[in-house]
Amino acid sequence: MNSAQKNGPVVVGLVVGSSRPGRRGPAVARWAAEVAAGHPVIRAGAATVELIDLAEQRLPMLDEPVPARFGDYRHDHTRRWSAVVAACDAFIFVTPEYNHSIPAVLKNGIDYLDAEWRGKPAGVLCYGVHGGGQAVEHLRSILTEVGMTVVPGHVELGLFADFDWSGEESSDPTAQAPIVPGEGRAAALTAMLTDLLTAAGGRGSGDRPEPDRAGGGAGGATGRDTVPVAGR
Ligand SMILES: Cc1cc2nc3c(=O)[nH]c(=O)nc-3n(C[C@H](O)[C@H](O)[C@H](O)COP(=O)(O)O)c2cc1C
Repeated sequence: MNSAQKNGPVVVGLVVGSSRPGRRGPAVARWAAEVAAGHPVIRAGAATVELIDLAEQRLPMLDEPVPARFGDYRHDHTRRWSAVVAACDAFIFVTPEYNHSIPAVLKNGIDYLDAEWRGKPAGVLCYGVHGGGQAVEHLRSILTEVGMTVVPGHVELGLFADFDWSGEESSDPTAQAPIVPGEGRAAALTAMLTDLLTAAGGRGSGDRPEPDRAGGGAGGATGRDTVPVAGR
């Protein structure tokens, strides 16, 4: 029995990092969830995947007067978001590339919190015209700054390599080409998940610490015990 099994299932948050109408993010996350469901650790019940859609969080642009590092949250939307993130042991960030970086909604969601991310492992699944590699480099740097351990490999999906445009007009910017991942994509995602779960070993729900703060973060009066968690 490994440590994750001993302490309860590891909860992997699958964060959808875009919010525009007609976005591809949810479809990419659904594909990732399907691949994850076939992972032996998840099949064995030692880990679960929770979909966290930033569009559903409806966070305003950061409006907390005190930087997240102090854990002094003044707004209910921050406390709700804190509870969602604190409930996870590890994360896969699903991000498109926007102007060679990540979408503002994802950066904003990360900036809102601190202790809830700190010390947890992260993996990145990105997509873009050429796979989104430049977004990954920015995201790696941001996640490292909030104290996350980013697993070395990431997974890229190219808009023309990994989506099926056969029934679509490729010049239509709103066309919804279905995702048809190329060879090796699912295996790469499974390998990333293995690294993530290994890094998260021992972080199962039975021993997940509350963020250490006095003022209303995940461990405060409106913490995860009293707030519904996205996707549950
Ligand atoms: C504001 C914006 C900027 C973009 N910039 C890039 C880019 O720099 N590199 C790239 O490969 N694709 C870029 N794209 C294409 C997106 O990666 C692609 O449209 C993707 O589907 C966007 O994710 P979403 O559908 O979840 O919003 C951009 C799209 C938008 C909306």
